[in-house]
Amino acid sequence: MAEPKMTTLRPTDAPAWKALQAHYEKIKDVPLRQLFADDPQRGTRLTAEGPGLYLDYSKNRVTDETMRLLVQLARERGVEERRDAMFCGKKINITEKRAVLHIALRAPRGTRIEVDGKDVVADVHEVLDKMAAFSNRVRSGEWKGHTGKAIKNVINIGIGGSYLGPEMAYIALRDLSDPKMTFRFVANVDGAAFVDATHDLDASETLFILSSKTFTTLETMTNAATARKWIVDALKNDSAVAKHFVAVSTNAEGVSKFGIDTANMFGFWDWVGGRYSMDSAIGLSTMIAVGPKNYEDLLAGFHDMDEHFRTTPLEKNLPALMGLLTVWYNNFFGAQTVGIMPYADNMKRFPAYLQQLQMESNGKHVDLEGNHVEWQTGPIIWGEPGTDGQHSFYQLIHQGTKLIPCDFIGFCQPLSPLTVQHDYLMANVLAQAEALAFGKTAEELKAEGSPDFQTPFRVCEGNRPTNTVLADKLTPRTLGTLVALYEHNVFTQGAVWNIDSFDQWGVELGKVLAKRIIPELESEAAPQLKHDSSTNTLISRYRKSLGRKN
Ligand code: F6P
Repeated sequence: MAEPKMTTLRPTDAPAWKALQAHYEKIKDVPLRQLFADDPQRGTRLTAEGPGLYLDYSKNRVTDETMRLLVQLARERGVEERRDAMFCGKKINITEKRAVLHIALRAPRGTRIEVDGKDVVADVHEVLDKMAAFSNRVRSGEWKGHTGKAIKNVINIGIGGSYLGPEMAYIALRDLSDPKMTFRFVANVDGAAFVDATHDLDASETLFILSSKTFTTLETMTNAATARKWIVDALKNDSAVAKHFVAVSTNAEGVSKFGIDTANMFGFWDWVGGRYSMDSAIGLSTMIAVGPKNYEDLLAGFHDMDEHFRTTPLEKNLPALMGLLTVWYNNFFGAQTVGIMPYADNMKRFPAYLQQLQMESNGKHVDLEGNHVEWQTGPIIWGEPGTDGQHSFYQLIHQGTKLIPCDFIGFCQPLSPLTVQHDYLMANVLAQAEALAFGKTAEELKAEGSPDFQTPFRVCEGNRPTNTVLADKLTPRTLGTLVALYEHNVFTQGAVWNIDSFDQWGVELGKVLAKRIIPELESEAAPQLKHDSSTNTLISRYRKSLGRKN
């Protein structure tokens, strides 16, 4: 197959980019009210269906011409060629010379995807089988702790991509989780997190999953050492480690050094980025919670969306459309952020999950050639579940001076038996999208009897763009499609911007500096501080507070 079009052309030089700039000048002030009035079918036309998902993008500040130009931009930027290169295992993570194959994690058994001439799908299924066998042993009580008791508590220790996905998925699918078991997630190096997760648990019934792609991350290694001590102190025997710890990692050597038999290690590969790993062995806690069958459905959902992204023309391709709309607001309207508002309590950690997925992927300042970009890259991603956010920060979205495109995500069928409450929930998501798009004019307010002195304060200008993503029900399969939707959305943006969405060099500097500061905080003797005057003073103040010498 053809090499991906790693065009050296800057996105801003693409003919479609220039056409979009001219087009933006024409439509930037056109209100959504007018766009809807001019086209009564807009709300059914500007929609697209994906596997189990319905996308209504009609409440965006776009016309048919905008969408045509955005799709043209994607084509000129080689989004399709890069997508195809990703799917067949080309090393598109160029700064680490790695393939980017999270799509192989959910490829059906028997599919062939090669990296350096080796099929990786067979390896994926070998690990999935091992995970399923282990999950079944834990869930059935066959896997016993050191004292012979069955495991009741599972604690995932990991951070970033080794934490956010497992916690998000656990909460999303908590109704399917084994009610006899407790699942907790420890990420922060703040000891409060570990203490909170363990204070009421019996060590003899607790299993730790040490999740770390590298098995070197400071937070995870520190919490792992604390967990080991907690187990050994409680069970009074070093050999208890074998029954109370398993590891998920690409680093077999590190796992062995920690004292975990690699037979109890679940592997993955360097072609899985941390933030793209929740469906690798990093999902072990998810599988134990919901069982292998539900986990299989989750993977099937991911795969459904992969196939949609791979085969659907860009004009109807959900992740591509959403990615292009983000480019539209980010690069032409100058929007700085995207709000993610899932209207489902079980999806409360989805915005945090998407923060890492998107901001670690597309928060980049140089292009694929290493040149400083002269165009905006990844937006700030943030959000809270509806309806909570409505009573907190929505005021600014409705009437503030910033343009904040939002994705609203709703599920038609409730998870709880409280169906009346579900109607209220869904009424709110629909109402918010309507209010943001169409607002309320002074004339309308006056006609409703608004006192003159209040009217200007009550006006909502509208023209605030939203996507609405609707699914029937939050199931494992739906969750998989939603996560993959955003993975490929991020991919589309990164391909347009000509950046490497799969490295994360920016996180390294802080890690190195923290390693230097740790001994300066810990030392008994006064340290010779050689930082800037601000950092030196803060270190001294910290030491003073703890009674350490300065
Ligand atoms: O510091 C960022 C990061 O490298 C993320 O990309 C990753 O998900 C996280 O740390 C955890 O890394 P690991 O799984 O190797 O412990």
